[in-house]
Amino acid sequence: MKTISDLGDLHGKRVLVRSDLNVPLDGETITDDGRIRASLPTIKALTEAGARVIVAAHLGRPKGEPEAKYSLAPVARRLGELLGQDVTFVPETVGSVAEEAVASLSDGDVALLENLRFNAGETSKDEAERGAFADQLAALADAYVSDGFGVVHRKQASVYDIATRLPAALGGLVQTEVEVLQRLTVDPERPYAVVLGGAKVSDKLGVIDNLLGTADRLLIGGGMVFTFLKAQGHEVGKSLLEADQLDTVREYLDRAERDGVEIVLPVDIVAADAFSADANHEVVAADAIPAEQMGLDIGPKSADLFASKLVDCKTVFWNGPMGAFEMAPYAAGTKAVAQALVDATESGALTVVGGGDSAAAVRQLGFSDDQFGHISTGGGASLEYLEGKELPGLAVHETKEN
Ligand code: 3PG
Repeated sequence: MKTISDLGDLHGKRVLVRSDLNVPLDGETITDDGRIRASLPTIKALTEAGARVIVAAHLGRPKGEPEAKYSLAPVARRLGELLGQDVTFVPETVGSVAEEAVASLSDGDVALLENLRFNAGETSKDEAERGAFADQLAALADAYVSDGFGVVHRKQASVYDIATRLPAALGGLVQTEVEVLQRLTVDPERPYAVVLGGAKVSDKLGVIDNLLGTADRLLIGGGMVFTFLKAQGHEVGKSLLEADQLDTVREYLDRAERDGVEIVLPVDIVAADAFSADANHEVVAADAIPAEQMGLDIGPKSADLFASKLVDCKTVFWNGPMGAFEMAPYAAGTKAVAQALVDATESGALTVVGGGDSAAAVRQLGFSDDQFGHISTGGGASLEYLEGKELPGLAVHETKEN
């Protein structure tokens, strides 16, 4: 796969960079700019090489037409602040406005196009419609750099199709992400533990299935754990439950036992009478959640148990919070797991936090990126990588000749 240096002399060249700038916003305020920061080195490498840089990205999931709340305008401002140079915000994705904006760039300048998903061609399942949009994007540039790791699992115009239309390379962010994830999949140092949380077990089926063949321990918390507890025969009250996944989860539990993979579930739960920070809440045994309560975090004994299962690990991957950490009464489990990863990092383990949401969670809880081995910018992308799936945004660079 080609890297930026393989693109040759970029001085005066128009280079379109696909970044993942899908950051959480509260109105126009960016609440976590981690993905913008992670995108800076590649953009800077290109400006320093004298390229005219056109950054292309998405925000949220608009339905193929403009929607003000998904505009990248606030991201352009933040990108400019962090780069320390003006970033021209182009209020269109393609067409004459974009062409004129690109034509007025000088060497070393940066422009950010409006949200790619305002154009239906970006995410279309129809190859021709996607290809037509990719043609328009490609017409803006002389070369393409894929640096949005968070979207490499998407077969979309700016991720996949454009790479077949221009000289193309992987940016440093994608390269680093892939190198780290390879260390989790190719002969990981053992013991290797994976901590999974988040709301839905149905989002994690593929990765659990695959990890049962590679990890030594699987620690499970978050909303998805109640389907596991129910599968073990416990009542879970009003907690999140995916009843249609019970048979699958039972099969995972059986397979883990047969293959010697340790599945670690919480032994206690913080249960509340409503999904609210003000609700009455108490710590209950994981096998005795009252019928009228819902589990919103793992309890303190579980936090200790999880930490004890990570202390000797040489490799740890974590995706998904342990509870409703946005509300202070239910943040302790997620914080304890983050601390256990920090401790493991200090003891020399490779620790990887996967996903924009998980990364934002650890920062919100007061941790900094450098306390972990690697904070991945890709949630779905890192899970699909661990699932062993082919990621279109990487595969297209493997097969490409020019
Ligand atoms: C993410 O937030 O995981 C990436 O930006 C991809 O977004 P998507 O799931 O909407 O494609």
